[in-house]
Formats: sequence, C-alpha cells, structure tokens
Amino acid sequence: MNKPLDLPVDAAVPQVGPVVGTSRVHESAALHVSGEATYIDDIAEAQGTLHAALGLSPVAHGRLLSIDLALLKKQPGVVAVLTALDFPGENNCGPLLHDDPILAEGDLRYLGQPVFAIIATDRELARRAAGLAKSAIQFEALEPVLTAEAAHALSQYVLPPMHLTRGEPQAELARAPYRLDGEWAVGGQEQFYLEGQISYALPQENRGLLVHCSTQHPSEMQQLIAKAMGWQAHQVQVQCRRMGGGFGGKESQSALFACVAALAATKLRRPVKLRVDRDDDFQITGRRHGFDYRWQVGFDDAGHILAAEVDLISNCGHSADLSAPVMARALCHFDNAYWLPHVAMHGYCAKTNTQSNTAFRGFGGPQGALAIEMIIDSVARRLGLDPLLVRQRNFYKSDGSGQDMTPYGQRVEDNIIQPLTDRLLETSEYAKRREEITAFNAASPVLKKGLALTPVKFGISFNVVHLNQAGALVHVYTDGSVLVNHGGTEMGQGLNTKVAQVVAHELGVGLNQVRASATDTQKVANTSATAASTGSDLNGKAAQDAARKIKQRLATLAAKLLGGAAEDVRFGGDHVHANGTRMPFTELVSKAYFERIQLWSDGFYTTPGLHWDRAKLQGKPFYYYAYGAAVAEVLVDTLTGENRVTRADVLHDVGQSLNPALDIGQVEGAFVQGMGWMTMEELVWHPKTGMLSTHAPSTYKIPTANDSPPDFRVALYDQPNRADSIHRSKAVGEPPLLLPFAVLLAIKDAVAATGPARCDPHLRAPATAEAVLDALAGH
Ligand code: MTE
Ligand code: MOS
Repeated sequence: MNKPLDLPVDAAVPQVGPVVGTSRVHESAALHVSGEATYIDDIAEAQGTLHAALGLSPVAHGRLLSIDLALLKKQPGVVAVLTALDFPGENNCGPLLHDDPILAEGDLRYLGQPVFAIIATDRELARRAAGLAKSAIQFEALEPVLTAEAAHALSQYVLPPMHLTRGEPQAELARAPYRLDGEWAVGGQEQFYLEGQISYALPQENRGLLVHCSTQHPSEMQQLIAKAMGWQAHQVQVQCRRMGGGFGGKESQSALFACVAALAATKLRRPVKLRVDRDDDFQITGRRHGFDYRWQVGFDDAGHILAAEVDLISNCGHSADLSAPVMARALCHFDNAYWLPHVAMHGYCAKTNTQSNTAFRGFGGPQGALAIEMIIDSVARRLGLDPLLVRQRNFYKSDGSGQDMTPYGQRVEDNIIQPLTDRLLETSEYAKRREEITAFNAASPVLKKGLALTPVKFGISFNVVHLNQAGALVHVYTDGSVLVNHGGTEMGQGLNTKVAQVVAHELGVGLNQVRASATDTQKVANTSATAASTGSDLNGKAAQDAARKIKQRLATLAAKLLGGAAEDVRFGGDHVHANGTRMPFTELVSKAYFERIQLWSDGFYTTPGLHWDRAKLQGKPFYYYAYGAAVAEVLVDTLTGENRVTRADVLHDVGQSLNPALDIGQVEGAFVQGMGWMTMEELVWHPKTGMLSTHAPSTYKIPTANDSPPDFRVALYDQPNRADSIHRSKAVGEPPLLLPFAVLLAIKDAVAATGPARCDPHLRAPATAEAVLDALAGH
C-alpha cells in the first residue's frame, strides 16, 4: 500500500507555511463521508415541486406515428404530458451539430430514446405513467443498424471520415522486412457516476429560470435551455455545487434532462425535478465509444516500426454528440509514446441505432493508444522479444534524431518517457520478476502469471483552441476571509481544493481562510466544460490572475503604510511583509476597505501558443504532455478464465504536484476505472431488438474496492512542468486511465505462457473470464 500521506487532521487549525504543493484534504471530504454534501436531490424542495419522468422508445428504429396522450394524461397524479411539439424554441440539444432531438420527433432512433415527458405530483407516479410508453407509442418498425461494423459496411456515419497521414505508409509497408495485420475491438464503457443525471428547474420572476443541474458544462446547459425555450441566455441561470461524479457523462448529456425540466417548469409555472432512475440513465444516455480496428504494420527484426496503417471505427450511436473531437483525440493518440515514421490513420464515426456515445475520461485518447499497444505486443511476440524491449526501441527520442515529431505536426519537446520508464523498471524490479514469473509458469500448469509494462503520453488542452479559456472571481471580505468562484465544476476530482490552494498561496493566507462556491452562470460567464483534464490548469490560472490583481492593490497600500516599494511587499503566513516589518492580512484588508480599495477582482486565462487545423488535423493542439507508466502483474486461472491483478506499480507525471494526496487519488481512481474497462465492464445489446441488456449493476459490473490491486504502489514523478502551467503542475484527471492497459497485456502475457513459443493469443477487451477462455482455446 502507499505510505500514509501527511494530511491535516483539523482543517480549523490555521495552516502556516506552503499551501500549494502540499497534501490537503478535499474541501468536501468531511461532507462526503458524513452525508452532508448537498447533491441536487438533497436541495430542499420548493413548495409545489412536480416530478418528471421520461417515456422511452420501445423500438431501436421506427417511424413515430402517434402518442396516446389521453391514456397518459388520465393516469393517477399526472399533471401534464409534454412532447417535442411543446418546445417553443428548437427541439434539439446537440452540443456541436443540431442532430440531437430532446424528445423524439418523426423518427425513433434507438431503444430507450425519450419520446415524451410525464409531469406528475410525485416521482413514483410520474415513472409509473412513463412506464406505459410501450402501449402509448404507436410506431412503424424499421430495420435497425446495431453495430459499428454493419454501419461501416453501409458507409453510414454521423460525420465525414477523418484521415491523418504522414510519409508513405503503403510504400513502406510493402518494403518492410516483416508485416503483420489484424482486426481487433474494444468495448464501450458506462460512466457509472454514483449520482445519476438530474436537473431541478425553478421558475423565476419575469420569465427567468434557475436550473440546478448536475453538469460538467453549466454554460452549455444555459445556452441549450435558452435555445429550446426560444429565450435569451440571460434568462437562464444554471448552478452546480458539485456532481457525484461526471467522468465525461455530464459534459453534453446532462442537456436533455435540463431542457425537459426547464420546459416543464416554465409551462406549468411550478418547480420541476427530473431525476433519472439508473436503468433509464443506462438506456437513455451514451458512454465511451467502443472501437473496431483494422490494422497493418511493417517492422524490422529489432522490432522497429517502419510503417503502420489503421482504420479506427467508433460506434457513435444515433447522433454526433462529441464523436468528432473524440475521434480527433483518438487519431492524435494512436502514436502514444512512439515514433511512427510512416503512418496512415482513418477514422470512421459509425452511426447506429443505439444511445449516442459521448465523452468518457480520456475522450478517445485511450481508444487510440490502446490500438498501438496491442500492435506492438503482437510485433514483439512474433519476433520472440519481450514487448518491453520493443516499446523502448520505438519510444519518441529527444536526441536530435528527428524522432520527436507526432503525426499531427507537434514536436514532443518535454519527453520524459525513457527516464520515467527506467525508474519504474528499477522500483518495480521488472527484470527480476520477469524471471520469477517464467519460473513460476514453468512449474504451474493451471495457474499462470503474466507481467506487462505500458507507457502513457497524453496531450493536455482542448483540441479546439477557443475552448482553452477560463474565468474566475475572487472576493476578499472585510474580515479577511476569501471566496473564490471559477468556471470549472467539481465532480470529486478536487478542483475546488486546488483552486483554493492557489488563491491561498497568492494571498499568503491559510487554506481555511478560503472557500470555493458553486459554479454559477451568473458569476463567471461563457465557461468551457470542465473536461480534457484542463480544470485546474485553466481555472487555477484564472483564479491566480484575480488574486494577483487584489494583491497588487493591497501591496500598494501596504507600502504606503509600512514603507518600502510595493514590488517588495510579500504575502505569507497570514501576514503582509514590507520594509522589514509586517502586518496581519486581516488588518491590511480592513484598512483597505476604509481606504475604498476594491477588494474583489475577476481573473482570466487563455492557454498560449495553441493552433489547430481541424480539416488537416495538423498543428499544436496540446500545451504539453503528461506521461506515466505502469507495470501490472496478474494471475490467470486457465481452467476458468478468471483473472486478477496481484500487483501494480505506477509512476505518473503530474509535474510539480499542486496537491499530492489528490493527485495520487486521481491516479488510483483512474487506474481502477481503466482496469474495469479492460477486464470486466461489458456492454451487451440484444442483436435483434437493440435493447441494452446490461442496464444495471446486476449485469454491468464495475470494479469494487476488492478488485483494486492488493499490492498497489503509486508514485508521482516529481519534476516541474516545462510549460508555464499553474505552479508547474500537470493535469491529472484523464491520463492515468491509460495506465491499466498493462493489466490487459499482462493477462495476454499469461495466456501466451500456455501456448507455443512466439504465439500471439487473440484476447479481446474486456478480458472477462469468457474472453480469456476464448483466447486460451485459440492456441
Ligand atoms: N474524478 C472524480 N472523482 N470524478 C469524476 O467525475 N472525471 C474525470 C477526471 N477525474 C472525474 C474525476 C474526467 S473525465 C475529467 S476530464 C477530469 O477529472 C476533469 O476534471 P479536471 O479537469 O479538474 O481534472
Ligand atoms: Mo472528461 S472525458 O474530458 O469529461
């Protein structure tokens, strides 16, 4: 286990000394565990609150003929039934394209699509009436397209194909001494946030609306509600104190629920809450895109990749949603940590009659990088080399050889993959354990062990330049206490804690002096989604900017009062230091108030130096890269296919950590979440009806505490970010999700131990017991 962290026991004790860079408890930790943390369903209900439930399409594809409104309206407790026709504005909540009806109109696109909304006096009655969807909806059934493969065969896409090519892959493939090709697939993944989708809309005076929404993107919710209502944005206030997890699932897909609650509240002039049941959440919302791959690779006898060509086919579901940026990120991460001299990638966004897939931690990056990891593993096995060696030989170099250019034209300038891997190999005793495992396997006919190391290189920034901006507000009250508000949202990742640390550091006060408040479209306007792991990079810098403006005004006053120059005034230890003397921060603040000095400020930040040509897929989309590597050891029962991780060693790069405790938490959480995707989380749609049969925890299994590695050693690679990020830290939210690729490849390693030399087992992901048995049978 990890060594215990230095956590302050009592947050009320004034904390002197550095705030940034130290392990601090999550600002809501005590509230989370005591149940005091307010999630949206915990907000005291206003008098007259009504409850909404959605009636879902019973068919994967069809023409909507009619809805028996009379039947629905006469159900007990029902106050209103709303359909697509009730939206005064646009019946659409597509985040990028306008191809996402809020409620079905004309056609039925997937089994589970919301067709009507029941508004009733209580939630149970609303759900019961909504449950009559099967009898209330008349439709003409059409043939559904249920798999990406089938859609690809029909060239049925939500977006035009994307191509990213460097060099002459076809010519180099033909010339390469060795060639391999194959097909492979990885399944999707359900976000499984513990708090399901929820919105609570309260009508305000003069055609205004307050919406409490569990969302990663309050500004977009505001815009989409306004569009659906035919309003101006200033009529809609969206607020989110925290989410019980988002993981990408509440970046765009909170909109449908927000729009329905908003419409109902406005039409009925009553507060309306829409909290979706878990099964409905599964049936209605999309998740991580499953990907199919068709690949070809050419290499030499040392395992150097000379050329590669790959088709990446994502299952997008019925609409585009965020599938374009997800595919763009997949294409920009196929290289992972490797120099691919000649490469062609073709991204196809398949349109199917299923839920519309969306953001999920890594945002396509994992699906891109996983492909090259599997390919390199196959290359190594075909050559009879340790896959580690082949990985190292193909790493991006920083030796002036020119092997540092990504296929999309960004130079890898901050490359630390080689030294990071070297350190991990040492601390994890890879070589020694590799020998032990070989010996173990030779003597153990049924139980087999496997070992693998995989690296991560993950680009940080939104691939769309204009999204890389953030705003913040810092208020210093006359008693010296500080409130910070920023455009990011808190979903458990600790963003508010980090931003509060940054502000406390600037003003030289203890962390207990700073409080973060709910994200609110009336405080910071036009915010980007809290996504792409950029939350603390962007909002931390914006809050720092705001705090510095206040600090400057205070420094001028301090110099006037204490003597010396304003530039020499220092803030620290709850005091202001100038001219060899000091004054308590609170005293200076009080004096500033009487001097009529503005004690609050806004702040703003834009990431410098980014450019991106979306048509050519070329430019500098990332401010910097985050790196990491993991070594996983697994045990596989070759009779049952059962498998488990027995030990995992992780070394992960967060630059100079803002808060090591939170960062290690993010690494551990992402590792276990990615491990779930790689080993146990399996989505099954009925092949004929298109019904998602794994729509609840009874059939869809996410890892529990017991599944996390019993021996789990997570360390941070403590080196400042080369880029001028907030206190030289690096984003941490998503990159570590790619670390557990090592688990999948360790399982493959164990399976390979049962076969002849140089065998390359075909193991699909997730590597469930069934998948492992199939791979074993394939020898
Ligand atoms: N951690 C927790 N506890 N809950 C979450 O929902 N979402 C992840 C990651 N870590 C998530 C999380 C995703 S998908 C992203 S993009 C980042 O957090 C977003 O937050 P950040 O930008 O502040 O890191
Ligand atoms: Mo995270 S998938 O960018 O919300």
